[in-house]
Amino acid sequence: MSNLLSISDIGDDVLEILDLAKKFKNGKIQGKPLEDKSLAMIFQKSSTRTRVSFDIGMYQLGGHSLFLSQADLQMGRGEPIADTAKVLSRYVDGIMIRAVSHNDVENLAKEAKVPVISGLTNIEHPCQALADMQTIEEYFNGFKNRKLCFAGDGNNVCNSLLLISAYLGMDMSVACPKGYEPDSEIINKAIEISKKTDCEISISSDIEIAAKDADVIYTDVWVSMGDEEHQEKRRNDLLKYQVNDKFMKLVKEDAIFMHCLPAIRGEEVTNEVIDGPQSVIFDQAENRLHAQKAVLYYFLK
Ligand code: CP
Ligand code: NVA
Repeated sequence: MSNLLSISDIGDDVLEILDLAKKFKNGKIQGKPLEDKSLAMIFQKSSTRTRVSFDIGMYQLGGHSLFLSQADLQMGRGEPIADTAKVLSRYVDGIMIRAVSHNDVENLAKEAKVPVISGLTNIEHPCQALADMQTIEEYFNGFKNRKLCFAGDGNNVCNSLLLISAYLGMDMSVACPKGYEPDSEIINKAIEISKKTDCEISISSDIEIAAKDADVIYTDVWVSMGDEEHQEKRRNDLLKYQVNDKFMKLVKEDAIFMHCLPAIRGEEVTNEVIDGPQSVIFDQAENRLHAQKAVLYYFLK
């Protein structure tokens, strides 16, 4: 039994899962492969895309999902996560969790007897990265000799993108101010993988260097869920990294703009860019459903 807590958990199988996602999107996998399977979905944080795509994904595969908000669970009143894991394992075939702390998800996975899939933690967002790569593949027909530039806060989404880019052999640069770099362990790991897959992973505070020759420009909110404490400071520090018309002149002319959503227009990205012709944000959002079905099929079947 395996879990999906980090992109590293599926490193060698990323292409297989992306292929499944493509097959689901094109209607090549028919029937109800997850008939009689059930998925518990624990949410400690808000969600639109992740919740709905997992829920509808399970339904379309013939299975059943159960939405469990932290506030309604006994976990919210202090029941240990280990007990929750053991109890849920007696009822369901898989657990999806969106959690505040990555450690909690690791503990849950350690105690659970069924696969655990992360729907985002403070460290990673692996399901998002899969849908993003499905989208990039659709636009560019592959990953080799392509470059993704992530601008802004080196957050959970950025961490998963670093790992998945490295596994797929796609160059990735991060443009962020000092103090907003991605997780250092993840950077090291991505660099290590990139040596085998022959691509380049780089982190720079210089926008021009990071954006040069990028085929994809990606950004995410400056204040992630749980980071609300120093909102004003974050906004001031990240101001220079806003993806606007000026920024778009630094990347390739036919580059696509990506954002995991939800976005704050006027902060990390301007209206002109996110609602402009290069933006592919709704393809990304749609692909969450196809990629989610691939993940569910891969882990629960
Ligand atoms: N991108 C993403 O995970 O969106 P939600 O927070 O709406 O699930
Ligand atoms: N980085 C954002 C992603 C939301 C999908 C957050 O963690 O809030």
